[in-house]
Amino acid sequence: MFTGKGGVGKTTMAVATALKYAQSGKTLLISTDPSGSLSEIFSQALDQQVTEVASNLDAVELTRKLVLDLWREKFGDEIYTVLSSFLPVGREIIDYIEGAPGIEDEFMLDYLLTKAQSNIYQTIVWDTAPTVTTLNLLFIQQLFYTHLTQAQKVYLKVKGVFTHVDPLALINKWQQLTAQIIAMLQSETTAWVVANPERLPVEQALNIAASLTAFGIKVNGFILNKMLPLELCNTHPFWQAKFESQQRWRERLLQAADGQRVTEIPELSGEKMAHGFLAEVSELLGKP
Ligand SMILES: Nc1ncnc2c1ncn2[C@@H]1O[C@H](COP(=O)(O)OP(=O)(O)O)[C@@H](O)[C@H]1O
Ligand SMILES: [Mg+2]
Repeated sequence: MFTGKGGVGKTTMAVATALKYAQSGKTLLISTDPSGSLSEIFSQALDQQVTEVASNLDAVELTRKLVLDLWREKFGDEIYTVLSSFLPVGREIIDYIEGAPGIEDEFMLDYLLTKAQSNIYQTIVWDTAPTVTTLNLLFIQQLFYTHLTQAQKVYLKVKGVFTHVDPLALINKWQQLTAQIIAMLQSETTAWVVANPERLPVEQALNIAASLTAFGIKVNGFILNKMLPLELCNTHPFWQAKFESQQRWRERLLQAADGQRVTEIPELSGEKMAHGFLAEVSELLGKP
């Protein structure tokens, strides 16, 4: 997964990495950033379904609409079954639940799990939404897991009122799914935290790395993107000052990274996202 503040280069790094992985095995590139730009980069609509964008490389943008449509298809009936077994509700309850905070985040991870378990892909490259949203997404898993544990107890107590279905079986199933998602994140996922050599991106990168570690997700290291080369900067005081400021934030990151890998990528010129640009980035990144 690629995380970090908005605009630091997550998508660029994710695309370059995915193209690199596609050279050695079937790869899926997933964006969960609502403002993701995969469709623009590959010049085709990727917000409807998984689509082949290059040899050995599939891509999809999980927009809110796509996520909720898939969620409804997969869980709508189950939710209605459970709730209608003890509440006088109609199917509109599904619309109501759909609007609940966290449902979309929850399902994005379920979608990732499905793809990971499909065994179609050797690697999944996950281009995440900026920091806060992604962290919510992770913590909501634990919240959901805890809630389901409590729900089991409550539902057991009122078991007598269920006449048609056994909601406990469904709750158990949901809880197992959540446990699998947490396991996928903790044992099969590694994170690159992307930053630019500026205050906010660096501070956010350090925070997110600490949160990921606390959650149990392995951090590969940091990518310090858009470093200005000295030879370009010593020609003008403005660029000289900018260079020096970048070096200070680079130092801050290196120190706080405390031995964790920091890969530096220069600010590159050239046609934005042109193939040569991405090949250059993937060379610089090496095989993660
Ligand atoms: N090393 C780089 N040199 C020059 N431009 C870059 C570099 N990395 C990213 N960009 C450009 O910066 C912008 C933001 O990058 P993007 O990958 O979309 O960031 P994010 O996904 O984190 O929001 C894009 O226009 C991208 O082409
Ligand atoms: Mg992006």
